[in-house]
Amino acid sequence: MRRRFEGKVVLAVGAGADGEGWSIGRATAVSFAREGAAVMVVDVRAEAAEEARRLIAAEDGVCIAHAADASDPDAVSRFVERCQGELGPINVLYNNVGIMAFGPSAELAGEDWDHVMAVNARSPFLACKAVLPAMMAAGSGAIVNVSSIAATRWTGARYLPYSASKAAIIGFTRALALEYAAHGIRVNCVVPGYVDSPMMRSGLERRLGRDAVEQEVARRHAACPLGRLASGWDIANAVLFLASDEASYITGVALPVDGGASFAAAL
Ligand SMILES: NC(=O)c1ccc[n+]([C@@H]2O[C@H](COP(=O)([O-])OP(=O)(O)OC[C@H]3O[C@@H](n4cnc5c(N)ncnc54)[C@H](O)[C@@H]3O)[C@@H](O)[C@H]2O)c1
Repeated sequence: MRRRFEGKVVLAVGAGADGEGWSIGRATAVSFAREGAAVMVVDVRAEAAEEARRLIAAEDGVCIAHAADASDPDAVSRFVERCQGELGPINVLYNNVGIMAFGPSAELAGEDWDHVMAVNARSPFLACKAVLPAMMAAGSGAIVNVSSIAATRWTGARYLPYSASKAAIIGFTRALALEYAAHGIRVNCVVPGYVDSPMMRSGLERRLGRDAVEQEVARRHAACPLGRLASGWDIANAVLFLASDEASYITGVALPVDGGASFAAAL
């Protein structure tokens, strides 16, 4: 099989996982490594980054794990420097970090808003800012950000700062793509629908209680136009496509990867 990322360096930020199983980030980091990339996985939780490294190493892939808060400018400078120093110039930046804050909007604190925006919107900005100079010098680079269907429609969940931060990612992606297109740098984002992931399951458990999780997951599978929820691998496939040379004429897009859910009557 052709390996699309042979000889490439991928910086995957927030590509651990919020628990057991195949999150979007974990599946994507492993997919990049399977296709030949040397990957640095950064996560605020050291054990999540280390688990991704272990999975990649078990398949003879190349990966460095790095624990850092991607919303902290100094920490971002350090991991970008380490990635370039140990793996070489960064060809692909994958911004996967995402957190939620649930609650009726009228009851959320300003701190909830600030925290979600700092993690979900500032982290990608800081990582892009740190990798852009080297990408400009190289005259090439691909950046893939992760938005959410929560940016583009009401999902029924009360997580206003999350929706707003994921909408910010779409505008951010488009503006950055156009600003740096002339440098050969492409910037795109995926817009996943519901993914049967540790993140979705932990969110449901917090909102509905543990006993209701399986029933709600089954309902969501059935409600999706394609008849099933996405797996982390479905999203990973789209991320790899956008990061690859096959997408060399695509920039500034927000690609729904949602089994048709964006255009469906109900979720
Ligand atoms: N899972 C879904 O159903 C779904 C649906 C639509 C969009 N998304 C988006 O997809 C992305 C990834 O989803 P996932 O399934 O991999 O989620 P996940 O929660 O499993 O992975 C996100 C990772 O980000 C890390 N992280 C959180 N704050 C961080 C910080 N400040 N610095 C560094 N790392 C930090 C977490 O520790 C976690 O490992 C997120 O941006 C999410 O909003 C997810």
